[in-house]
Amino acid sequence: MLPRALQQAIQEQAAAIPAPLLALASARQAELYSGADPDRAMRIESAAARLAYLAARMPPIFQVVQLLCAELARRYRRLEIHSVLDLGCGPATATLAAHECFEITSASLIDRDGEWFGIARRMLAAAGRKLAAGARFTAGDLDAAAAFEPHDLAIISYAIGEMDNDAAGRLVRRAWQSARRAMIIVEPGTPRGYGAMLAARRVLIGEQARIVAPCPHTQPCPLADRDWCHFDTRVQRTPLHRRIKGGSLPYEIEKYSYVIAARELPTTAARAARIIRRPLKKSGHVILDLCTATGAAQRVVIPRRDKQAYRRARDAAWGGIWKAADDAANPDRDQSAELPAGQSSKLPNTP
Ligand SMILES: C[S@@+](CC[C@H](N)C(=O)[O-])C[C@H]1O[C@@H](n2cnc3c(N)ncnc32)[C@H](O)[C@@H]1O
Repeated sequence: MLPRALQQAIQEQAAAIPAPLLALASARQAELYSGADPDRAMRIESAAARLAYLAARMPPIFQVVQLLCAELARRYRRLEIHSVLDLGCGPATATLAAHECFEITSASLIDRDGEWFGIARRMLAAAGRKLAAGARFTAGDLDAAAAFEPHDLAIISYAIGEMDNDAAGRLVRRAWQSARRAMIIVEPGTPRGYGAMLAARRVLIGEQARIVAPCPHTQPCPLADRDWCHFDTRVQRTPLHRRIKGGSLPYEIEKYSYVIAARELPTTAARAARIIRRPLKKSGHVILDLCTATGAAQRVVIPRRDKQAYRRARDAAWGGIWKAADDAANPDRDQSAELPAGQSSKLPNTP
């Protein structure tokens, strides 16, 4: 959910452009994000395109990054994240989302398009004076930077898709080297976005990173070549978003592919499998497609007669984790997976 202060800041800034122009720029972006033309990457190159992105794309992406930060936080009993490196920051989407989950006191935001910085500053100011005061902006090409300064968390949100494969690989390596604790990379949940995640994951594993999510293993992805690993989440649509994009529903579905890596092994749910498709909930059983800790994709059928597992399976969601019966039966493990110490109730639900 986008905080009201951010909704207000978006509305004030978007008022600079007539609504029909925003709608036109937004429709063009939606087409590129859908992955309809896999060879065309997103490029935001005008004031109207920036504001259309702020009004229609920033809110869903913010909510996705917020979910991923929550997932990272949930996997550790203590995770000290106070600084963020936001690479390809645009309107500061990732920094703002991280701020919802962690106490962020300093942030470095880098983008080749310095025109974003005024917008981003206003967004950070709306989120909190301390956050805005601790933000530093650098205009430049991410591929030209020799190294980045160390930060607790590095985030590349919807940006590597705009780079060629070699540059994206170099960026992931340098970003990881600057990540003191963890790193989050996220792209649209299209085959193209998944391809970028696969490549990023390979670089991270080569750097000895711990893969925290979505994969419960460091083996090659069992889906490669026959499917693409992605997830979806229902994101709230703001009134402005509805005006620009049409439709009356108060929410829309955002599909995303992602990888979260960290320096330390997660303290919770280490052996849990990931639910990689929407569970099929039938009357007498539930079918779950899982990515397991051995690196295999596996379909399991949970019958109604297996009472406890069936109850859990009825509540299971695509993108969630699925624990083996012995782990699920252990209340200590369960609690630590759901309630990370030191994290506030600001955490949204996992997908
Ligand atoms: C789609 S926007 C995403 C913005 C923001 N991270 C978000 O999640 O909403 C991609 C951003 O990455 C920036 N970007 C892409 N390639 C870049 C590069 N090589 N160097 C610096 N910035 C880059 C673009 O200028 C743009 O602002």
